[in-house]
Amino acid sequence: MKAPMITCRGLTKTYQKGSTLVTPLEALDLDVPTGQFLALMGPSGSGKTTLLNLLSGIDSPTSGTLEVAGSDISKLTRGQLTQWRARNVGYIFQLYHLVPILTASENVELPLLLDPMSKKERRAKVEAALDLVGLADRMDHRPTELSGGQEQRVAIARALVADPDLLVADEPTGDLDRESATKILELLQALAHEHGKTIVMVTHDPRAADAADRTLHLEKGLLITQPTP
Ligand SMILES: Nc1ncnc2c1ncn2[C@@H]1O[C@H](COP(=O)(O)OP(=O)(O)OP(=O)(O)O)[C@@H](O)[C@H]1O
Ligand SMILES: [Mg+2]
Repeated sequence: MKAPMITCRGLTKTYQKGSTLVTPLEALDLDVPTGQFLALMGPSGSGKTTLLNLLSGIDSPTSGTLEVAGSDISKLTRGQLTQWRARNVGYIFQLYHLVPILTASENVELPLLLDPMSKKERRAKVEAALDLVGLADRMDHRPTELSGGQEQRVAIARALVADPDLLVADEPTGDLDRESATKILELLQALAHEHGKTIVMVTHDPRAADAADRTLHLEKGLLITQPTP
């Protein structure tokens, strides 16, 4: 048995909004085995993005324990968390968030600029990532010269290029037509099943959830079902 990629216990996130406290996540327990493709569903405001932000170290929990990729990330300082994130997590957004003035290969190269590495080594990693998402022939295209589905594949290559074990995706197919969405979902399945990545994907689309190995539902910050993995 491989070690779980994510273990959280009693995970709670509270925000202070003026004089009121908002608790988007309350005492959440969650286990995600390594290599699982997990879909997370739930109504707007149920805490899905909040959970992704905690799992990926963008935000820190108010209480509870959170172990991801072998580290107890609830105990890391902001600086340590930034370093940990760069090595361990790739984030995929609904609206791709590519830099418009950069080419596909320059966008994919961005996460590698944090690490000391030769230009040649960087180039090889960028080419391998773009090849993996099927866009080796679009290296020099800018985002405006790509379709939405291609832009999302560039964004996935950028999330992958530093070879993180965990990918988190917030509605990655939310802005795509059915055909492009299917391609993205097949790519995510291949990343989990052939490349061993653990994927946590938020989605409102039951078809997208069907592509995953397991689906969990969040309701007002609580997981309302958690079948055994
Ligand atoms: N930085 C913040 N400060 C204060 N409240 C926040 C903050 N981030 C999220 N919230 C609140 O936490 C709750 C959950 O938000 P979250 O973004 O996680 O929902 P979501 O499930 O992703 O919704 P959607 O499907 O609309 O994206 C909401 O009530 C939101 O207003
Ligand atoms: Mg959200």
